Amino acid sequence: MSEKLTVSKIRHGTVIDHIPAGRALTVLRILKLTDRSGLRIAVLMNVESMKLGIKDIVKIDGKVLDTEELNKIALVAPTATINIIRDYKVESKFRVQVPKLIEGLVNCVNATCITNKEREPATPRFALIADNPVVLQCLYCGRYLKGEDIVRQLVE
Ligand code: CTP
Ligand code: ZN
Repeated sequence: MSEKLTVSKIRHGTVIDHIPAGRALTVLRILKLTDRSGLRIAVLMNVESMKLGIKDIVKIDGKVLDTEELNKIALVAPTATINIIRDYKVESKFRVQVPKLIEGLVNCVNATCITNKEREPATPRFALIADNPVVLQCLYCGRYLKGEDIVRQLVE
C-alpha cells in the first residue's frame, strides 16, 4: 500500500495553499462554503510543508475568488498562496497581500470610537501595522485590532 496521501487535482477553481495550520475551516467560513455550496471541496489539515512546518490546504473546484474574499483571507492567513486552476493547469499563482489600508471589512473594538457611534458612524478604516500575524490600527482612535478579534468578525 502506498504511504502517500493523494488528493485529486481540480479542473477549474482555486487552490489556497500554505494556510497556517488550524486556519482552513476559518477560510471556508469566510468564503461561506461550509454548508450547501454544492461545490467539490478538499480540505487538508496539518500536512507537511517545507516553508511552514505544517500547513492547511483548501481546494475549491468551481470557484474563483474575488478581491474582497482574497483580502479577508489575507487577514487570517497571510502566508496563503492562491493558485488559479484552469483546465487542470495552474494558470496563476500569487501570495495574498493585506492592503495597507483596510476599509469597511472589520470594525473597531473600542466602543467609544467614532466608527461605533449610532448616529452617522464613520466607515471603519485601519492601517496595516504588521502582516504576519496581522496587526491593524484604527485610524480614528488608534486602537489595535489583531488575532481572534479579526477572525471572529470575518466569520460572523
Ligand atoms: N493543484 C490542484 N489541481 C490542479 C493543479 C494543481 O489541486 N489541477 C494543486 C497542487 O496539488 C498544489 C497546488 O495546486 O497543492 C499548486 O500546484 P503546483 O504549482 O503544481 O505545485 P507546487 O509546485 O508544489 O506548488 P508550490 O511551489 O506553490 O508549493
Ligand atoms: Zn477606533
